[in-house]
Amino acid sequence: MMGATIKSIGIYRPELEVTNAFFEAYLETSDEWIRERTGIERRYFSSEDEYTSDLCVKAVEALKKNHHTSVDDVDFVIVATSTPDQILPNVASRVQARLGISNAGCIDLSAACGGFVYGLILAKGLIAAQTHRRILVIGAETLSKAIDLSDRNSCILFGDGAGAVIVEASSDNHVFEPLTDTDGSLGKELFISHLSQTVDGEPILGDGKMHQNGRAVFRWAVSTLVKNIPVLLEKNKMTLEQVDYLIPHSANIRILEAVCKNLDFPMERCMESVRSYGNTSAASIPIAWYNGLASGKIKQNDQLLLIGFGGGLTCAGICLENKIVLGEAD
Ligand code: COA
Repeated sequence: MMGATIKSIGIYRPELEVTNAFFEAYLETSDEWIRERTGIERRYFSSEDEYTSDLCVKAVEALKKNHHTSVDDVDFVIVATSTPDQILPNVASRVQARLGISNAGCIDLSAACGGFVYGLILAKGLIAAQTHRRILVIGAETLSKAIDLSDRNSCILFGDGAGAVIVEASSDNHVFEPLTDTDGSLGKELFISHLSQTVDGEPILGDGKMHQNGRAVFRWAVSTLVKNIPVLLEKNKMTLEQVDYLIPHSANIRILEAVCKNLDFPMERCMESVRSYGNTSAASIPIAWYNGLASGKIKQNDQLLLIGFGGGLTCAGICLENKIVLGEAD
């Protein structure tokens, strides 16, 4: 079976920095509450005419610069997002056109905050099947366009950003066994509604906004990660001690702390992006991975465990050996 490896990464965040003071100015909330209950200090919002495809293109341009590489020979593009520019055409096709990639399949992947890891799993499968050799996997969101700014329970949480990697065919395999798990009966606890529908018999207008039951999602997230991380390790015949860095989806620092405490894993070896970017959904894991590399913590050959979770409610994890090295240009 053909192996897969990941050697390149790029991220992008919009220019506009939004600190907690922005919400303090018009909502009954405080910087102190937001930091204590979520860990978030700031996030970035896209401008009115900046869409998810724009963030994707910028993240890929950063990847090209970071690794002095080209994407001309990419043969498949997967964009994981819950905030596409539009439903049709998909974001991946817009990215393909903007980057001038020829001969590439293009799909968007809708699995909320689990989307980036689902993308890696699909890319690994396509490479193993030998139908494709070089696959761009991008997690990108413009969640600022989907938040209800008057809902203090959710608007303080989310931010915009993008992260891109290339999964490529390799004689040595560095992308290992995955895990996928979903409980669709909890879908009503976190959703963005584009069509008018009923949830638990209540009519919901298709307002394009995020609706969530924060407490229910929090509880599900902690118990799902505590249950699934050992299962994923077992599938990979690994122990937690062998994991150099855990990179869970960065939803709330307290979720990460609770998971690390439950599993007796040191929080210093848990990479996060939530403090400085908020919850960027499908983009949060590649951003945390990049930050771990840029800060010099994550090194070549480190064993990583990535695990995404969110709307669905769905979860996806994968173990891999880090082969990304950031050069001096970074
Ligand atoms: N500022 C101040 N107070 C706030 C607030 C805010 N921004 N948001 C909620 N509160 C209040 C609540 O109204 C509640 O007040 P009450 O006790 O008078 O009813 C109180 O704070 C506690 O609310 P609770 O919901 O228990 O807080 P929490 O500690 O669970 O934190 C979240 C709320 C949303 C931050 C937390 O539940 C969370 O992060 N959940 C997961 C969300 C998530 O990750 N979603 C995406 C998944 S990928």
